[in-house]
Amino acid sequence: MSPAPVVKPLLATVLGERQERPPVWIMRQAGRYLPEYRAIREKVGSFLELCYSPDLATEVTLQPLRRFDLDAAILFSDILVIPDALGQTVSFETGEGPRLEPLHPDGLGRLRPDGFLDHLAPVLETVSRIRSAIAPDKTLIGFCGSPWTVATYMIGGRGSSDQAAARLFALRHPDAFAQLMDILVEASIAYLVTQFRAGADVVQLFESWALNLDELAFAAQVIEPNRRIVEGVRRQIPNAPIIGFPRGAAGMIAPYAAVTGVNVVGIDYATPVGFADAALPKTLGVQGNLDPLRLVAGGVQMEKRVEEIIAGFAGRPHIFNLGHGIVPETPIEHVELLVATVKGV
Ligand code: CP3
Repeated sequence: MSPAPVVKPLLATVLGERQERPPVWIMRQAGRYLPEYRAIREKVGSFLELCYSPDLATEVTLQPLRRFDLDAAILFSDILVIPDALGQTVSFETGEGPRLEPLHPDGLGRLRPDGFLDHLAPVLETVSRIRSAIAPDKTLIGFCGSPWTVATYMIGGRGSSDQAAARLFALRHPDAFAQLMDILVEASIAYLVTQFRAGADVVQLFESWALNLDELAFAAQVIEPNRRIVEGVRRQIPNAPIIGFPRGAAGMIAPYAAVTGVNVVGIDYATPVGFADAALPKTLGVQGNLDPLRLVAGGVQMEKRVEEIIAGFAGRPHIFNLGHGIVPETPIEHVELLVATVKGV
């Protein structure tokens, strides 16, 4: 008789099975708050080189799991490898964030969707290496940036607080914008399908800039492209487990969840727990939503808030996480306390 398959509590939660205590991972859990990450980062020439080195990217992915009792590993890469693989110039300036050669409406022809998966082969190699390296009860999370969020960087050339360049591009050049969304939707589907085939258990769609959009723009630029990705991925990977994180979606989380069909909705920290719980069907999973600065400050305020969040989502599948990425200033002992608090130990 073959042994019973090992349960992955985080994957089981994504599939709709609530756990006694929520499984936990941390958005951006591999990164600069860890000295062992900084040591590797110093050795490589550029951030993208790290993303495209399967040995180093695997090592960096595993670092947080060696320190903390987390339930998932997330592939170490970045949402901007897609524009890079499509042939747009992308670089990361230390301390300044990403810089891209801004995309103009007449520049779409220069994007090269055909060979883009070959360019991402090292990332897919990283996925299979992580798969063989992690314990069988750990969930492997793959990801990509959602088309609107990726487009804000492709059009603006950098991060911005209001995404005005991309919002105006969408309004002034609707045909070019639709063509860009089509390219990104197709690229994301192909990329996520290969991540599943390489060993990812779950994927997360990072829509980090779901802010600042009116309801029409939100429906067209956030909901519809994410819906197409979910549908396109599941056409090739039936029932593929998918987490959607529409940061800033606020009052639009319910239509986002209903129309996209994601298994779990990531809740940002500005969304009230009670609002999210009332807005979403009770069978739907949620992920979140501690303010990353509560983790920086640590102590009793953090423990209290963690318990409040867990109690607030007690009636449904819940994955504990921050409500946005961990910041470099975060003390490691606070992460230890966070994980122990979530696990109730
Ligand atoms: O979660 C993980 O540990 C996996 C790796 C991961 C990174 N970026 C590594 C990274 C993931 C999942 C991302 C996603 C990502 N990248 C998002 C969505 C999540 C979010 O925070 O909203 C976005 C918007 C990006 C784009 C990006 N990459 C920015 C704006 C920056 C610079 C600012 C910053 O936060 O560092 C990056 C660089 C980046 N991506 C770093 C890391 C560890 C730091 C770069 C370095 O080490 O020099």
